Amino acid sequence: SRLADLRYTGYELKKGKYSLPGLPAFHGGEEWETLVIHLADSTCKASVKLYYGVLEDRDLITRAVQVVNEGSRPLRLRRCASLCLDFQRGDMDFITFNGCHAQERNLDRAPLRQGVQSVESVRGTSSHHHNPFVILCEHSANEDCGVCYGAMLVYSGSFLAAAERTQLENNRLLLGLNPYHFCWTLEPGQSFTAPEAALVCSPNGFGQMSRQFHRAIRENLIHDPCQGKRRPVLINNWEATEFDFDADKLVRIAQAAAPLGIELFVMDDGWFGVRNSDRSGLGDWSVNEKKLPGGLEALVPRIRELGMSFGIWIEPEMVSEDSDLYRAHPDWALGAPNRPFARGRNQLVLDFSRKEVRDHVYGAIKQVLGSTCISYVKWDMNRSLTDVWSAALPASRQGELFHRFVLGVYDILDRMCRDFPHILIEGCCGGGGRFDAGMLYYTPQIWCSDNPDAIDRLRIQYGTSFCYPISAMGAHVSAVPNQQTGRSVSVETRGVVAMAGTFGYEMDLNYTTQEERETIKKQVAFFKEHYDLIQRGDYYRLSDPFAAPFTAWEQVSPDRREALVSLVSHANHAAAPFRTLRLKGLDPEAQYRVNGGEVWPGDVLMTAGWPVPIPTGDYQSAQLYLRAE
Ligand code: GLA
Repeated sequence: SRLADLRYTGYELKKGKYSLPGLPAFHGGEEWETLVIHLADSTCKASVKLYYGVLEDRDLITRAVQVVNEGSRPLRLRRCASLCLDFQRGDMDFITFNGCHAQERNLDRAPLRQGVQSVESVRGTSSHHHNPFVILCEHSANEDCGVCYGAMLVYSGSFLAAAERTQLENNRLLLGLNPYHFCWTLEPGQSFTAPEAALVCSPNGFGQMSRQFHRAIRENLIHDPCQGKRRPVLINNWEATEFDFDADKLVRIAQAAAPLGIELFVMDDGWFGVRNSDRSGLGDWSVNEKKLPGGLEALVPRIRELGMSFGIWIEPEMVSEDSDLYRAHPDWALGAPNRPFARGRNQLVLDFSRKEVRDHVYGAIKQVLGSTCISYVKWDMNRSLTDVWSAALPASRQGELFHRFVLGVYDILDRMCRDFPHILIEGCCGGGGRFDAGMLYYTPQIWCSDNPDAIDRLRIQYGTSFCYPISAMGAHVSAVPNQQTGRSVSVETRGVVAMAGTFGYEMDLNYTTQEERETIKKQVAFFKEHYDLIQRGDYYRLSDPFAAPFTAWEQVSPDRREALVSLVSHANHAAAPFRTLRLKGLDPEAQYRVNGGEVWPGDVLMTAGWPVPIPTGDYQSAQLYLRAE
């Protein structure tokens, strides 16, 4: 039968945080408390443990679930959510973050109606289309007021987030693995652990909720090899060269970047196998010596001589049909027997549920990473999962494959983090198609979107900031006119926008003017000087880019002695009204010197506000650096 009647049998209360086998989860020491609630069904002999982790300081509660088959016959699990929460009120709004490739995480808000409203992914990744982070809040909640609850899933695969107004006028939220194509068999004695969900409550609007998530993600989730140190300002060659490069071309890009203070050179796609387009080569993780004679051993010292460190791009989960790997092991790709399979970006997905596949791929990558001095890896993933069928699983267990694939990805990421603890891994998935807390556990930063247009990025980074910190958002200054929008925005504004992320460049700086290079040099120096404030300060959204004629945000140091305000105006219009920008989070008693000039009282800046300069053209920007006297 499909019946289950789980009854309470006991509880445990302990100091510290539980961990989950094979899954990413929040971590930490004695600042955490763990509550385990035990349930059992005496007929089907299933026992369930509900894990709650409480981080009181951040008002953060985590929740995970473990099911054990205590009986003597197999059990099938067809649905296993991580969080189900009833609210004793029926008047809440449901906020979700939606989009597509190059337009990720746009905020959508609507009052909950009767019936289930949901967002989900069935793509095997958390997806560009919906994010596994949602908010339930009262109708009147805004940035600064109102009760709101943010819930995220620490997971990188197919998920379901469903909310409803029930027949009793209550609201309910459910978050967890997507039951679509899910069926997990538990043999006697076996257990299944569902991924962790995390919940933050803020009585003071979205801003406070976001700041709580940001701090908890930075300090209690991400494994950050650079913890306490500055992450490097990088330059990536992708948009400048795509697949068309050789060692000299890469070195020339690095040579133009190094004198401007850029610290890390990242060699993107195209360095391995036969990879001159996206039609071939994935899976063959050995250096293409036609492009890079003498291999990495010859190239990397040339980059390091410039005083830069070296990073490399990989896409481990994929295989091209035109590759030695596929020719040797066609059954290592996902695909059902006797059916043609779908290609995405001309590539197939490797069956990461299989240990021999993971061992082979990781073995090859480990050799590359160990062969020379590499301090950064960009881990990409450029298509969704389709044809979800493994040659290694019996028909009755194919419903496990979506989740086993994600566990396989986590297994390799875990091995890489342990074998190369000094390497900073940046996640990527056709831009921001796997921007979730599960990936962030292993990859402290994630390329936010394949759309680096500074004006489009304002919206993408705004939506992303509701849950994820600045230090997690991969953001680069790229060339203009932008490849996707055709828009030209000044290098000043592009820098201001990229600085609301991890900050780097993705262009050939040999094709910039002397004046632009001077600006870039100043940007890099400014970013380094204010690194802690920008990356670890408390983040405030000052305007909504979908509603206001400008986008503004602010970072404030924890002691409120320093703040940085950034503002980018959208398209300019005649007869623009005079506006002020009310700052947030300052010390009302303090006197702040603004950009080394005038002194303004904190309460005036927060109540009357700073006069917004009237732009004289489109897409202008301003930054105010405030220091308390
Ligand atoms: C994806 C990434 C890009 C780049 C290309 C390389 O699209 O998002 O940044 O790395 O792959 O093929």
